[in-house]
Amino acid sequence: MEILETAAALQALTEKWRREGRSIGLVPTMGALHEGHLQLVRTAAAQNDEVVVSIFVNPTQFNNSEDFKLYPRVPDSDAEMLRGTGCTVLFTPTVEEVYPRPTVLQFNFGALENVMEGAHRPGHFNGVATVVSKLFHLGRPHRAYFGQKDWQQVAVVRQLVQDLSFDLDLISCPTIRETDGLAMSSRNRRLSPEARAVAPRLYEALQLAAAQLQHTRQPELAQQAALDFLGAYPQIEVEYLQVADARLLQPLPAGTEPGQEAVICLAAWLGGVRLIDNVVLLLT
Ligand code: PAJ
Repeated sequence: MEILETAAALQALTEKWRREGRSIGLVPTMGALHEGHLQLVRTAAAQNDEVVVSIFVNPTQFNNSEDFKLYPRVPDSDAEMLRGTGCTVLFTPTVEEVYPRPTVLQFNFGALENVMEGAHRPGHFNGVATVVSKLFHLGRPHRAYFGQKDWQQVAVVRQLVQDLSFDLDLISCPTIRETDGLAMSSRNRRLSPEARAVAPRLYEALQLAAAQLQHTRQPELAQQAALDFLGAYPQIEVEYLQVADARLLQPLPAGTEPGQEAVICLAAWLGGVRLIDNVVLLLT
């Protein structure tokens, strides 16, 4: 596994691979790697000749500077974890390398970002779209891998790929969980033992909402059931819990028909740490 730190070095290598007809998979991350990330890398390795993993804590997607400062950074153990996964190049640029000058370009994803993460984290998807576009240009991937844990991010990147004609396949991969159901996240490292103990209730609440939605077709009832359940845990502060159309991300109306794919997304604070999760279901 080669470690590259400059955009020019990565571009030169991916250009050479393209000339040689080698297929390239890209897995963008912000590091503090866990099994969820590693599964993306293994999937990429099974489908491509070369796999670029980027680790870059992207300042432009943090709407909260404290969150950016506290985001875990463990480069040595990350590099160690990637050995044996099929990653051929680890790209770890500095902020100056990615942003030699401040960016001015603004993305507007319309309705896709007026809800949930987009509504609660102003500028977040602008930063994601900016850095992902840069990584697509530098990594020249045939396939790019993203996790369904960030459902709205996948929707935004899908729109980005379509609108800017990026010549790649976007592959979205299932959410990997701890054995108690908690979605793996780099931020889980920051949970206190007390917060970690109640954190699996988030996924339980989503499952409860999914069962209610399937049963009643009433998004409001499903949301309320989950909020009532979480209300018993004073350590958990829900920022939003939303039943939405899985593709358009708009709130689902009551009495939705069978065949509708729904996503239930939530964001919650546990002792100063913000976690997100979701479940997807097909109404039958
Ligand atoms: P990060 O949170 O590090 O996540 C990197 C990739 O891993 C994302 O596609 C995310 O959805 C996926 N991922 C995280 N936890 C997962 C889990 N438990 N199961 C499956 N996949 C999981 O998302 C970002 O970084 C950034 O926004 C990025 C796309 C790198 C742009 O800066």
